[in-house]
Amino acid sequence: MAILMAPSILSADFLNLEREVQVVAENGADFIHFDVMDGHFVSNLTLGVPFVAGFKRITNVPLDVHLMVSNPEEQVPWYIMAGADLITIHREACDDPAPILEMIRDAGVLCGLAINPETPVELATDYLDRLDVIMVMSVYPGFGGQSFIPGCAEKIAHIASECKARGISPVIEVDGGINAQTVKLAAAAGATMFVAGNAIFGKTDRVGAMEAIRKSAASAI
Ligand code: DX5
Ligand code: ZN
Repeated sequence: MAILMAPSILSADFLNLEREVQVVAENGADFIHFDVMDGHFVSNLTLGVPFVAGFKRITNVPLDVHLMVSNPEEQVPWYIMAGADLITIHREACDDPAPILEMIRDAGVLCGLAINPETPVELATDYLDRLDVIMVMSVYPGFGGQSFIPGCAEKIAHIASECKARGISPVIEVDGGINAQTVKLAAAAGATMFVAGNAIFGKTDRVGAMEAIRKSAASAI
């Protein structure tokens, strides 16, 4: 499967977001990763709907909206309307993700399910058949710039083998602490979509940093 790079604008310069999005969008980003935090599901608070709508006006690169919110069923319709191309909800945020995933799908938007580091993969495997993307969090959600939790590579491997056994191929996305070193662990385990915030926007040469991660992932697959 193709390697997909999704720079997370959480670590970008918020006072210059248009420029920040464009520099990665025009230089090979496959998705723009957009972290929505509600101050409740996670303690941090970030950007919301108007920014997704705004990004939609300035780029054709698909928007990967990661909803770290407590009530995804209420918020999903807003992000569909704003133009999200992929919407990922958290397994921990809902008793039954199935109807919400269906709502996303029915709107013609790609659907994803995320699991936190402490959440057993078994809580997500029931839904694998209806997912475009399964996202393994490799840090505790809430903040950029944290260190990759190595045990998460085993969860990726478990999901990859489960998908193989079932003959399905949702994209396995990994989010948190990804850089040119840690990406190798995630790629070797079976992830093909890589979110990186600090390792891209924390560097002066954002494009070079993104390409270094992509090359490193390719070398490990
Ligand atoms: C964390 C967010 C991540 C974050 C990753 O809760 O979901 O997308 O931006 O940032 P880095 O790559 O810096 O760990
Ligand atoms: Zn994220």
